[in-house]
Amino acid sequence: AVPKALPRDLEGVRVAISAGGTREPLDPVRYLGNRSSGKQGYALARVAAQRGAEVTLVTAHTVALPEPAGAKVVHVSTAEEMRQAMHAEAASADVLVMAAAVADFRPSNRADHKIKKSDDAPDPVVELARNADILAELVRNRAQGQVVVGFAAETGDDKGGVLDHARVKLKRKGADLLVVNAVGEGKAFGTEDNSGWLLGADGTEIPIPLGAKAELASTLWDAVVTLMKR
Ligand code: CTP
Ligand code: CA
Repeated sequence: AVPKALPRDLEGVRVAISAGGTREPLDPVRYLGNRSSGKQGYALARVAAQRGAEVTLVTAHTVALPEPAGAKVVHVSTAEEMRQAMHAEAASADVLVMAAAVADFRPSNRADHKIKKSDDAPDPVVELARNADILAELVRNRAQGQVVVGFAAETGDDKGGVLDHARVKLKRKGADLLVVNAVGEGKAFGTEDNSGWLLGADGTEIPIPLGAKAELASTLWDAVVTLMKR
């Protein structure tokens, strides 16, 4: 298929996007991590650049992905490094998108040496400490007119469906937009396609049909452009 030309409606707009999954070290060789591939964040960066935006991609431990043309790429590892990098970008960005899977917890102690097993000592227990919520901080520090976007990967449970959880999360986080992906059973993580909803703080709920991550990216940038016109 002939790719249709993208609008240049993000010309002059500075966006910072986080992607991938953070790693929280236990010792020099081990970490707590997650299965984020980074593909959605990279697609967001690529499409934003194609639409004329000035893009910074703050990325942690993705699968091997080509650098999005025209984007500045900042590599980080831990949640704390991602936090510092996103706050630095927030000072000058018009739009902030937290597409990364940020570890909620890190090991309280990082061993200087490789942790050894021993028949004489009890097996270690990993104690965890809470990481800062970057998205919530970005919302709290938000400059006038700055747009802040969050992502949520949800499964339903006995307390409600995917959408119920997502509506609560949007309120709690205070973001302008929340992209909700239904996950589980091979959905979303590491796959080429995504589906879900785009929830707006104004109550709008746009279903996102199953499609390429670039299509989800286009839907999100459309919504951001609409918000910035207000
Ligand atoms: N997020 C963040 N900093 C964290 C954790 C999450 O910025 N320490 C961001 C993610 O990048 C995402 C959004 O918050 O944009 C939602 O992440 P999610 O893990 O779904 O939400 P949590 O508030 O961590 O809630 P849960 O207990 O469901 O994991
Ligand atoms: Ca979380």
